[in-house]
Amino acid sequence: MTESAAQPAGRPVVEVKGLKIRFPSLGGTETVKAVDGVDFTIMPGETFGIIGESGSGKTTIGRALAGLLPATEGDILYEGDDLRKLTRNQYRHRRQRYQIIFQDPNAALNPRMTILDSLLEPMIIQGGLSQEEMRHKAHESLDRAGLRADLAARYPHQLSGGQKQRVNIARILPLAPKLVVCDEVVAALDVSIRGEILNLFNSMQKEFGLSYAFIAHDISVVAHVSDRVAVTYLGRFMEMGPTEDVIHRPLHPYTVALLSAEPVPLPRHMRTSRRIELKGEIPSPVSPPSGCRFRTRCPYAAARCEREVPAWQEMRPGHFVSCHFAGSETFTAPA
Ligand SMILES: Nc1ncnc2c1ncn2[C@@H]1O[C@H](COP(=O)(O)OP(=O)(O)O)[C@@H](O)[C@H]1O
Ligand code: SF4
Ligand SMILES: [Mg+2]
Repeated sequence: MTESAAQPAGRPVVEVKGLKIRFPSLGGTETVKAVDGVDFTIMPGETFGIIGESGSGKTTIGRALAGLLPATEGDILYEGDDLRKLTRNQYRHRRQRYQIIFQDPNAALNPRMTILDSLLEPMIIQGGLSQEEMRHKAHESLDRAGLRADLAARYPHQLSGGQKQRVNIARILPLAPKLVVCDEVVAALDVSIRGEILNLFNSMQKEFGLSYAFIAHDISVVAHVSDRVAVTYLGRFMEMGPTEDVIHRPLHPYTVALLSAEPVPLPRHMRTSRRIELKGEIPSPVSPPSGCRFRTRCPYAAARCEREVPAWQEMRPGHFVSCHFAGSETFTAPA
């Protein structure tokens, strides 16, 4: 949530180059191309939003950023370093700086452990602190995440979803993270408390200079918190740029379709006059369509879209798109 987002300056916290992640399909006879060649950077203190329908590869990108999945191809550099090239000890230490918080507030909490033990666990794994120092840090984080001290003795089932998500934030603070992947972190929470949890993420970012990869299918949430945003479809980015620009002046038909499909009307400054109704399901990532992978659902698709993969072009400062007709007349007059 930096002041100006068009071209953030400085050294990236993370740099992703040509990232591909493949899985064997169920039964193992085919290959799921979950992430199929993405490039991006995240700058210090920046929130990088990732949006797209379910199945577009957002969580897979997030898990790779947090070091939970290896790249099948490509590189992820953390402050310039390839962690795969570090010694085991260096790796263990560095990896702790890149954390992920999931949609399910229970995902990282052991139901049989007290909240205090859940807070201590990552510090024990990281090592280097005395028992007393760890307990002090645990209580400090609990307080910073807006939780009462007496909750430390409780178990996860005794807490609300919002409180558990606060514990998940408190757990990673003592690790001095650089980047936190927030994967649909408010989607499972009651609408009434989403705002306060987003505010907590915002204040943590300001206080600790965190960078976020903020993943959501809900555009209004991502638009609210992100400096830049990437629109993901079938494992690739269709569009990426400063959030205001992407939301207000989208260049890719898929972005327009996502904006048109928002169930809650977007604030006036985020609305676009063009509308595209998104028909059908997202195709299988086992065999994505040739050429432009959005072509089977695109109202502007032409013969060329089947043959040629559209280039990744910078149409406006820091605003990239992958569409043969982005910015041309074809785009504004569907067949
Ligand atoms: N471990 C896995 N094994 C096989 N396929 C997977 C695995 N994880 C994800 N996928 C597939 O990869 C694609 C992208 O998934 P995911 O990253 O979870 O997307 P999103 O978070 O955008 O919904 C989906 O088709 C999903 O079924
Ligand atoms: S390249 Fe063709 S199919 Fe793809 S988004 Fe652009 S117009 Fe649609
Ligand atoms: Mg997901």
